Amino acid sequence: MKYLIYEPAEDSYLLAEEVKKFAFGKVLDVGTGSGIQAITASKLKSVKSVLAVDVNGEAVSFLKNKIKKEIKNKKEKKYLKKIKAIKSDLFSNARGKFDTIIFNPPYLPFDSREPEDSRLATTGGKQGYETLQIFLYDLNNHLTKKGFALILFSSLTNKEKVEGFIEDICFDFEKLSEQKVSFETLYVYKIKRSKVLNELLGSVTNIRKYAEGKRGVIYIGRYKNKKIAIKTKRNEVKTETINKEADILKKINKKRIGPKILFSGNNYFAYEFAEGKHIGEFLEKSSKKEAKNVFLNVLNQCRELDKLKITKEEMTNPYKHVIIGKKITLIDFERAHFDSEPQNVTQFCQYLMRNHNVLNLDKNKLIALAKKYKNVQSGETCEKIRKLVLSS
Ligand SMILES: C[S@@+](CC[C@H](N)C(=O)[O-])C[C@H]1O[C@@H](n2cnc3c(N)ncnc32)[C@H](O)[C@@H]1O
Repeated sequence: MKYLIYEPAEDSYLLAEEVKKFAFGKVLDVGTGSGIQAITASKLKSVKSVLAVDVNGEAVSFLKNKIKKEIKNKKEKKYLKKIKAIKSDLFSNARGKFDTIIFNPPYLPFDSREPEDSRLATTGGKQGYETLQIFLYDLNNHLTKKGFALILFSSLTNKEKVEGFIEDICFDFEKLSEQKVSFETLYVYKIKRSKVLNELLGSVTNIRKYAEGKRGVIYIGRYKNKKIAIKTKRNEVKTETINKEADILKKINKKRIGPKILFSGNNYFAYEFAEGKHIGEFLEKSSKKEAKNVFLNVLNQCRELDKLKITKEEMTNPYKHVIIGKKITLIDFERAHFDSEPQNVTQFCQYLMRNHNVLNLDKNKLIALAKKYKNVQSGETCEKIRKLVLSS
């Protein structure tokens, strides 16, 4: 099928205004269509070269011919010599890294009334954001250190989703312009690597958002061929919060507790990713012997934490806080704090009480021992709790 070449419209002009202000260095124009963004960029002194790509071969041929003709006929248009046009599905044929990457994607949700030959230029997928998502997830690999992207999308693309994708890749965004046109609003965003991502550049690859808590966002990535996690703080959270968690991890790591911290920076720390199953999931299929082993191990770690005068919190229901893999790792020390009367063993005893039937634990004995331990945190009482679990 021959696909139509996108005629510049409001979206093209809105984006081109920002291209004029910001484009520099080596430029990549993805989905170049008529070439409007590429040509706008090529006129700028700050721009050295422009690679214009489109998955639509028709558009590429059209642009190539246009450039050839115009250079031949109008000498004053020699800025067009900066442009090279090639066929490429997003970044697939774009070699090297770029200072400015421009993308006015097909951003509308699928609509059966749209003629098939114009869909490539207009329809981003079923929801509208799919092509932009694929582009964003690969963007980090194609930008120079100082590089950024200028993208356009519409209220019909789902703004929250697009902003979510930008957070997924650990980039920051700035809205440069907005324009209402009949039934939609168009947005132009400048997006660049976050400070944390910039610091990790070159050492950590394949960074992607993994989870978010109240205070922090966790990314996963690869570092020296290992899967690692990077915890950063939410914008509104104070830097001390993340530093405090890193300090606690360093301290408990000495007792082989918690995920191993690898390195830290101003607003983040990186640690080995603990592979395995959550404790609840593990217990669903484990034998009594395996369950006992896990309980004893966690109890020992809780005792060590008590001795260090640190309360981890969440140990009454540690469903998401204990990972059973090669090792048994306590994770997520976001709420951990120094405490003159730490609560780890006591809290974990409450969890054991609720799960007493897994091991047929003597609940009353456990309650009595837990109370005793709460009053005086002695190693002797903890040992009795341990023995009770062991003998169950
Ligand atoms: C909305 S038009 C924008 C055209 C032009 N850049 C502008 O601003 O007017 C989207 C362009 O993206 C191209 N396109 C769609 N999917 C693509 C893909 N996977 N890789 C590269 N280009 C793609 C279409 O062929 C079309 O030219």
